[in-house]
Amino acid sequence: MMKNLSEREGTLYFESTNLEQVAQQHGTPCYVYSRNGIEENWDAFDKAFGSHPHLVCYAVKANSNLSILSLLAKKGSGFDIVSGGELERVLRAGGKAENIVFSGVGKTNDEIKFALEKGIRCFNVESESELEHINDIAIANNKVAPVSLRINPDVDAKTHPYIATGLKENKFGIEFESAQAIYLRAASMKGIRIKGIDVHIGSQLTDTQPFVDALDRVLQLVNTLESQGVTIHHIDMGGGLGIRYESETPPSHVDYAQALLKKLGATKKEILIEPGRAIVGNAGVLLTKVEYLKHNQDRNFAIVDAAMNDLMRPTLYDAWHAITPVTSRTSTPQAYDIVGPVCETGDWLGKNRQLSLEEGDVLAVENVGAYGFTMSSNYNTRPRCAEILVDGDKTHIVREREKLDDLLKGENIFPV
Ligand code: LLP
Repeated sequence: MMKNLSEREGTLYFESTNLEQVAQQHGTPCYVYSRNGIEENWDAFDKAFGSHPHLVCYAVKANSNLSILSLLAKKGSGFDIVSGGELERVLRAGGKAENIVFSGVGKTNDEIKFALEKGIRCFNVESESELEHINDIAIANNKVAPVSLRINPDVDAKTHPYIATGLKENKFGIEFESAQAIYLRAASMKGIRIKGIDVHIGSQLTDTQPFVDALDRVLQLVNTLESQGVTIHHIDMGGGLGIRYESETPPSHVDYAQALLKKLGATKKEILIEPGRAIVGNAGVLLTKVEYLKHNQDRNFAIVDAAMNDLMRPTLYDAWHAITPVTSRTSTPQAYDIVGPVCETGDWLGKNRQLSLEEGDVLAVENVGAYGFTMSSNYNTRPRCAEILVDGDKTHIVREREKLDDLLKGENIFPV
């Protein structure tokens, strides 16, 4: 069972909070996060790097709720952002601009200007054109932009093809072969100050070897660059450490850090990492209620009140998430497909699960703290879920359930 989730006399608790009561009090569907889970995961990364200079830059896209950002900001966390919107969130949550790195292949001029004004720590630059844009914008605003080049190391992350990013065929980063020349150009640009080097090879990695291979390539390049007078102050290894959804055995935070530190050897350069999933993934559940049971000849369906718009991972990546009744029953289990009300065959949360269910039961979909709410949408004009944070036996609404008025705001009827 997921961290911080336990069964007490037939009912699921998250930390010391009864999830049946959460569902009753706050309604379903709703995301529920564990404060302790998030903080422990962040601390585990931070501690694992020990005295080696480092900064854990939480990848905001995994879960950008202001409360979560503020919990991490209070710890002195860094942040990895990919949009002006995420920058605004981090600042509103109390994060420091000087701890923010800005990734992404398509930063707009407005976003670059905004980030320069706020004084972020580093732009992770993904193409030569982007470097030129940043240089021009910096000069026009009397600034000098701190940058790393994101290198595509051509390393196979051995993960789902949609979330592998470090292969030549992917749109991400600067080709290894061109990196040296672009660094030398960057060094001569008036609006640019070279800070570091960056890679991110993919997400949900369950082995340390691809990280070590990527670092190996990075270190080769750092040596070449430094022999040509370009100083690299930090090495950003991106995110990507996986979690256990079903039977995966990802390295622990410590194993991951040790593997990187070992490869680094005597290099005392500061290490940045950008973990998202490994901080929030196993700290969230989605509560959903069984609306209908439908027993067809070949298949049983449990039609629940959460759908693909609330949790997209199953249909998008064929992702498996444990689904556990919040209150257990003793009747003989049956195989169910857990599906939502959206009008698409792809609208499922789990298939062929052995469960003993009745209409009205509440289910917990596990390990959805990362890329759950942030990837949710209003498809079928469904208001997005409430989000609740538990802290011991206390619950806090950290995002209210959307109302139809929120959804329709900004739409106009065409004047005939
Ligand atoms: N840094 C960069 C530049 C990234 O693109 C990402 C994730 C991260 C860090 C954080 O990676 P993590 O530690 O979370 O693996 N929606 C997908 C995952 C997409 C990941 C995109 N980039 C999913 O639900 O599995």
